[in-house]
Amino acid sequence: MRTSIDPGARPGLSSRAMHRLEIPADLGKPEIYAELLASLRALVEDEPDLIANLANITAVLKQGLADVSWVGFYRQIGPDLVLGPFQGKLACTRIAAGKGVCGAAAARRVTLVVPDVDAFPGHIACDAGSRSEIVVPMIRAGVVVAVLDLDSERYARFDAVDAAHLEQVAALVAGLSW
Ligand code: SME
Repeated sequence: MRTSIDPGARPGLSSRAMHRLEIPADLGKPEIYAELLASLRALVEDEPDLIANLANITAVLKQGLADVSWVGFYRQIGPDLVLGPFQGKLACTRIAAGKGVCGAAAARRVTLVVPDVDAFPGHIACDAGSRSEIVVPMIRAGVVVAVLDLDSERYARFDAVDAAHLEQVAALVAGLSW
């Protein structure tokens, strides 16, 4: 994965900056995540707008990770998780407290890796084609402000390597201006 920025344009989300992700086919998962995280840090560095940053983060993850059918944020608004920026098919707009994989991850404040969504009690099937899922909570000053949700049409697409690196993405997101 490479993020190239047009010469003369500053890093970050300048309208003049052109970010391009190039993915060498031979990179292993940790190396891909290392490149993605570097790209994400550069993207959000100079941009204060939360929605713009969340939107581009979902684009980078969708583009950079293989076999991911959906990636997006649900923000904690009152008792519910409410759909935020995402890439993929139409999704459920609002998830009640504790419901689904997203609600469970937020309530337990832990990353949930679900190798087979049909085996997860209460899984919410926004997309009937989804087979596996990972949800990472974003905890800011001790409060869950959002979850990051990724789906795949492949069973057991996500593992501990994904969890560890997506938790780094979550830490980056928690540090944005909310
Ligand atoms: N499957 C999730 C709902 C969100 S969609 O996957 C985008 C859940 O069970 O919480």
